[in-house]
Amino acid sequence: MQLDFRRPGQPLQIRLLFVCLGNICRSPTAEGTMQHLVQRAKLDRCFQIDSAGTSAWHAGEKANATSRKIARTHGIELQSRSRQFQTRDFQSFDLILAMDSSNYQEILKMARNPQDESRVVLFRTFDPECDPFHPEDVPDPYYGGLDGFQTVQEIIIRSCQNLLDRIRQDSQIST
Ligand code: 4NP
Repeated sequence: MQLDFRRPGQPLQIRLLFVCLGNICRSPTAEGTMQHLVQRAKLDRCFQIDSAGTSAWHAGEKANATSRKIARTHGIELQSRSRQFQTRDFQSFDLILAMDSSNYQEILKMARNPQDESRVVLFRTFDPECDPFHPEDVPDPYYGGLDGFQTVQEIIIRSCQNLLDRIRQDSQIST
């Protein structure tokens, strides 16, 4: 997948949406982690980053307390409030990153045309430890213990770093 988001005559603006089921564990972690990496690279002006859930089960809630605690140990603050994915997100974002294959299928069901579909990708396509042609799911940590949340944070840090590196390369962002 080419990650060249340049548009002739327009300032570079890359709009990323991370999507999981509840929007309280995995996708808020990805949103906060990506925001952190982009700020550290001094590229905030080029990015718009958000997250959503395929369900509205936790709408309005803060990220899960364990997710927030683990993120904080990496210097990352999770500030999102849960919201449900909407059809208009296909227009509002350039790349929609599904955390697992079930989220991916749910998002694709809402796509109205091939352009909508082309914006949806499985997040672990960008995990350097995954085969990009057979990406694995980010495991749902919600019903498990602390280890599961830690594993999720590690997967997300390395995948977001690689995603940022790939965007910088393909969109030719130097600073
Ligand atoms: P998330 O995790 O999709 O990573 O936010 C979950 C959060 C809540 C539930 C399931 C998964 N739930 O069943 O309420």
